[in-house]
Amino acid sequence: MAEAVWPAGPQAQSTQAHPLTEARPRVDASVGISIRRLYKIFGPTPGKFLEPVQQGMSKQELRDVHGHVLGLSNISIDMPAGGIQVVMGLSGSGKSTLIRHINRLIDPTAGEVLIPVDGRELDVAKMSPRELLRFRREQTAMVFQKFALFPHLTVLENTEYGLQVQGVPGRKRREAAARWIERVGLKGYEDSYPNQLSGGMQQRVGLARALTNDAPILLMDEAFSALDPLIRADMQSVLLDIQQEIGKTIVFITHDLDEALRLGDRIAILRDGEVVQQGTGQQIVLKPADDYIESFVRDVNRGRVIRCRTLMQGGAAPVQGPAVDPSLVIEEAARLLSAESCEAANVVNSKGRHLGTIAMADIIGAMVPPRPEAQGAPAAGT
Ligand SMILES: Nc1ncnc2c1ncn2[C@@H]1O[C@H](COP(=O)(O)OP(=O)(O)O)[C@@H](O)[C@H]1O
Ligand SMILES: [Mg+2]
Repeated sequence: MAEAVWPAGPQAQSTQAHPLTEARPRVDASVGISIRRLYKIFGPTPGKFLEPVQQGMSKQELRDVHGHVLGLSNISIDMPAGGIQVVMGLSGSGKSTLIRHINRLIDPTAGEVLIPVDGRELDVAKMSPRELLRFRREQTAMVFQKFALFPHLTVLENTEYGLQVQGVPGRKRREAAARWIERVGLKGYEDSYPNQLSGGMQQRVGLARALTNDAPILLMDEAFSALDPLIRADMQSVLLDIQQEIGKTIVFITHDLDEALRLGDRIAILRDGEVVQQGTGQQIVLKPADDYIESFVRDVNRGRVIRCRTLMQGGAAPVQGPAVDPSLVIEEAARLLSAESCEAANVVNSKGRHLGTIAMADIIGAMVPPRPEAQGAPAAGT
């Protein structure tokens, strides 16, 4: 296995006064990828329109008058280290454009993609071709919507391919590949070919292949979107389960809110190349930033999003009832209360400290979405 820890590359470049490290001497260890003021303009002379766009030229004017497409506009997102950052938005909102900046399959028109390594921040946008190649191979792995498996290679060969490219010896890479094939539930299929597998199984191979690379950053662009709902839910479980073990920095793109809420430690919502809201799923569901997001979250199952911590009466005296963890979703708390025929539960942290109480009545109130009729909005339809 490659011994060197990234970066072992040219030190000369990095010890020079680096504008980024100068501006931010303190590197936040909780951030795995920091995207700063990122712009992407598509067209023959994007640089020419950067300033006008920054000064407020609209997407329409840029397109209709100047023939350029504003792909991303002023994106800043701090993605959690070792967590799952979901990027959500409708088709054409810029999700793929954004994720492709992280391994620089797309060059930004302006902005930074910062990866903290050894207390420094490396800007992917400023890497030399050699550094970039190494960064891509050793620091990132991708899972694609269309699986992108080699049809002429077996499951095992597909899975070990990345390590093979890195020059890892045969036995070692086969061991790693076999371990992940088993972990994603495909033991026994090592010698099958992709066309002998269902879509869900093929995507398990895609995931095993990415995990075998053992890169700290995992990029997943609509990786589960092509799968049937049940298979998709299965894959979400597999990913969450594995993430418990590996704790990688995962960027997961989806246009599906339920998937976003289930997987995302943090969620950023894109519209027309701009971030319209970012935060935890709970923050977004409870405080949608505008009507667009409100319409997204209106029908969501709030019981699976809101956590006991949010609803509890902090500091209230202990009651007769079960104990719940502050991070438990309220639907689960309701289930527990109902099973034990209790009106309220004690919220107790992992160290056994009593934090407060949560009442069944409050849970029921919170699970019902607010109706917009007070604002004179049209009824929800259906
Ligand atoms: N190479 C390109 N040239 C011109 N426009 C592009 C290019 N790539 C993407 N776009 C445009 O950028 C916008 C965002 O696209 P994309 O990132 O693929 O969206 P999403 O992944 O959210 O569906 C779209 O309007 C798309 O047409
Ligand atoms: Mg896309």
